[in-house]
Amino acid sequence: MEQYKAPAIATEAVLVGSGTMPDGSETVRGYDFNEGINLEKLLDSYKRSGFQATNFGLAVEEINKMIDMKMKPIPSEKQAEINVNPCQRKKSNCTIFLSYTSNLISAGVREIFKYLVQHNMVDCIVTTAGGIEEDFIKCIGDTYLGDFNLSGRKLREKGINRIGNLLVPNDNYCKFEDWLMPILDQMVQEQKEQGTLWTPSKIIARLGKEIDNEDSVYYWAYKNNIPVFSPAITDGSIGDMIYFHSYKNPGLVIDLVEDIRRMNNQAVYAVNTGMIILGGGVVKHHTCNANLMRNGADFSVFVNTASEFDGSDSGARPDEAISWGKIRKEANPVKVYGEATLIFPLLVAQTFAKREKEYKSLHEDLP
Ligand SMILES: NC(=O)c1ccc[n+]([C@@H]2O[C@H](COP(=O)([O-])OP(=O)(O)OC[C@H]3O[C@@H](n4cnc5c(N)ncnc54)[C@H](O)[C@@H]3O)[C@@H](O)[C@H]2O)c1
Repeated sequence: MEQYKAPAIATEAVLVGSGTMPDGSETVRGYDFNEGINLEKLLDSYKRSGFQATNFGLAVEEINKMIDMKMKPIPSEKQAEINVNPCQRKKSNCTIFLSYTSNLISAGVREIFKYLVQHNMVDCIVTTAGGIEEDFIKCIGDTYLGDFNLSGRKLREKGINRIGNLLVPNDNYCKFEDWLMPILDQMVQEQKEQGTLWTPSKIIARLGKEIDNEDSVYYWAYKNNIPVFSPAITDGSIGDMIYFHSYKNPGLVIDLVEDIRRMNNQAVYAVNTGMIILGGGVVKHHTCNANLMRNGADFSVFVNTASEFDGSDSGARPDEAISWGKIRKEANPVKVYGEATLIFPLLVAQTFAKREKEYKSLHEDLP
């Protein structure tokens, strides 16, 4: 009877037949804990899980492609350019840029960065001022776990500063001042007597040498001749110190022009480039912009929480960078939407950390 049949318009609308899926289409499947707790297999399963887990899997592949490229010999026609890099870092077949916002040095990701720099796994670092000073401050005093909800007023009364759910006592900055001021004095003296032209990257290398502490990211950057760029170096406690110091012992000049040449030429004279950019703002743009100078990076991974609807550079997807020539048209860049303290250690576990031996032999072989 007609009343027992679903309306034809509805069945036709809902039960539309499908064509066949393209060859090689991957099915969605997550990890089965009946296989036991195997973190490596769990992370391997992410790519087939969907959403940001899939983007994580793609990011693992993209970083491994950077490393694969780095391990290949430099083509003979590029050998002649070997020493054109303004920082005289030994050149490999892929220059890997690692860029991160300040808060990631305040967090425990600092130790992950230290590992990468200690083992000479990346070639160029870009960060903001807090990302420089908090590394040195951690060598002098501790950063503590707190809570996002702690009252700013009460913390202010106790002389404690909050970064998200981390706490940094004011005393740490006083100790930092005691450490930094005499070094600034020496820098002014060297500028006046030896004509040293200081740039942010030269200052960071000098501080890395002075801290002489194996826990420091920038100690290892100095040891391994990995340049660290921070064009807005005065926007943090370092800037406060430079401000006060300029009254006590005026005259320090910091040259941004030499550093923009050093930074851009990291990309210009690279054979291939890869960018790993955690967070947005200056660090993201400075790295992408340097890669514009070579018509785009070959490999790119962005990890950040920002969205593009407001037109911000922080939220811009890799596709926007392709439109500017900052990433190559034929590249397959990946953006993982998420918080870097959660994601980056896992990315390193699936990429760099597995390839420590290859890196060792690479550095022995490089000319
Ligand atoms: N510890 C600190 O955060 C600190 C300390 C001193 C000075 N500062 C100064 O504050 C200024 C702004 O800091 P900034 O440019 O480093 O970045 P930011 O903190 O302003 O972040 C820029 C964008 O990066 C993304 N992002 C930030 N943290 C992220 C995370 N954990 N995971 C994923 N995405 C993330 C967000 O989209 C954010 O809008 C800088 O000049 C810096 O020197 C910061």
